[in-house]
Amino acid sequence: MTTATAPQLNPDARRFLDRKVHKLLIDGKAVDAASGKTFLTTNPATGETLGAVSEADKADVDAAVASARAAFEGPWSKVTPSERGKLLNKLADLVDAHAEELAQLETLDNGKIIGEAMKGDLPLCSDLLRYFAGWTTKIAGETTPVSVPYYPGAKFLHYTVREAIGVVGAIIPWNFPLLMAVERLAPALACGNVLVLKPAEQTPLSALRLGELVLEAGIPPGVVNVIPGFGPTAGAALAAHMDVDKITFTGSTETGRAVVKASAGNLKKVSLELGGKSPNIVFDDADLDAAAKGMFMGIFYNQGQTCSAGSRVFVHKSKFDGLVSALAERAKKIRQGPGIDPTTRMGPLVSETQMKRVLGYIEAGKKDGAKLLAGGERAAGLGGWFVQPTVFTDVKDSMSIAQEEIFGPVVAVMPFEDEAEVLARANGTPYGLVAGVWTKDIKRAFRMAQGLKAGVVWLNCYQFVDAAAPWGGVKQSGYGREKGPYAIEGYTQVKSVWVDLN
Ligand code: NAI
Ligand code: MG
Repeated sequence: MTTATAPQLNPDARRFLDRKVHKLLIDGKAVDAASGKTFLTTNPATGETLGAVSEADKADVDAAVASARAAFEGPWSKVTPSERGKLLNKLADLVDAHAEELAQLETLDNGKIIGEAMKGDLPLCSDLLRYFAGWTTKIAGETTPVSVPYYPGAKFLHYTVREAIGVVGAIIPWNFPLLMAVERLAPALACGNVLVLKPAEQTPLSALRLGELVLEAGIPPGVVNVIPGFGPTAGAALAAHMDVDKITFTGSTETGRAVVKASAGNLKKVSLELGGKSPNIVFDDADLDAAAKGMFMGIFYNQGQTCSAGSRVFVHKSKFDGLVSALAERAKKIRQGPGIDPTTRMGPLVSETQMKRVLGYIEAGKKDGAKLLAGGERAAGLGGWFVQPTVFTDVKDSMSIAQEEIFGPVVAVMPFEDEAEVLARANGTPYGLVAGVWTKDIKRAFRMAQGLKAGVVWLNCYQFVDAAAPWGGVKQSGYGREKGPYAIEGYTQVKSVWVDLN
């Protein structure tokens, strides 16, 4: 069942891929779907089947939620904060010990290049686990100096407790499959919650392997359940489930809206990390070498399949021609191929559907009159779902390639004249996830940071993330924050306790 790249595979990755069916993980056990159905996951570099995966649907969601609820009320509620920290640290060690195996599974299932998986995704995963392991013993409430105007002279002790929310459903996308899973698991468990994780149907493998490591770390069965399946079935059932207390969702804005509607039945908490059309703005006084690198990484990292892609680059008109032609030349030289080959610099898109969606946007850009400086086609002769790194100029702000999330290696580069103008244009989409600014003028940098409508602003850098730095958007890029201390707020609820001292 596995692919042509076999010789380079780590023996553990090989063993994992050799399994006949990758089963659901419910209540600590590998189980078939109630329907007995399976689906195939493919290697996007070749289009070949990578494995068969049990396909969760409503009945399996019910079983996973029941298992999570039982773990939450039972064994998990007896584990002390310090013990939860030790378990998360143990899981971090296991993720490190299995880094190569996990990175290879990720690369084969998603298409991303192995170097980025090894240097980016995997270390970020263990770091997130350790960061939130540290939080377990520091999630405290406070005492409150209450007065009670209608009861003069009365004395009370008032305090707050931060409690776990309960059963968290995580619906995650395919662009950073393991990282997205860990980004939810780490804070959710640190705060004492339990998790039902639905990976994206395109990339279920690394999350299933993570679920096994969770058990190996000693985390009780049922605390983490992993149920691969499709969005309209498994995802929708989880979002609508009456015994799920919170949904954390990352994906498209359209699906985010469906999740919010589905959540209304029991008014579960929802946090959303949705799309972006992020501006990356280069002023004339910028360090141009650094800005050129930032423009390049901003759009082409992970084949452009990042919610934070710097897909609208604004360059001051005095530097426009030089920077845009350097970007186009560099784009044309990117070596594309299977991500598992360490000499590859850009892999395929995750699926044929995604490739067609991206090519559709490229066609729309051409039709609207934008000019192609690089790329613009499916990459020929490579087999899988490859799109050439693509650079457009002569783009109007109103064109679909300047307004809509493409989620591929396609950038629109546009000139601007002054600060007020570029700020207004940068803010002129329904999205507000991230923004980048390149300038040596410190006042301008901070003015821009104030004015940009974005959840994250990078000044003279781009695509930086850390376990300690909050992540999330404004406007239609979502609400709630993952990572950092704000994640603790998102995975806890406050209880207010009054004690009569009179
Ligand atoms: P999607 O938003 O439909 O899928 C993300 C997750 O939601 C997957 O696990 C999927 O199974 C699940 N899902 C789908 N429909 C659902 C429903 N009705 N109820 C509950 N869960 C559901 O994204 P898709 O179709 O994979 O990609 C489409 C576009 O979405 C991309 O081109 C990109 O623009 C955007 N996207 C943005 C991401 C981000 O990180 N912000 C990640 C993935 C996609
Ligand atoms: Mg796949």
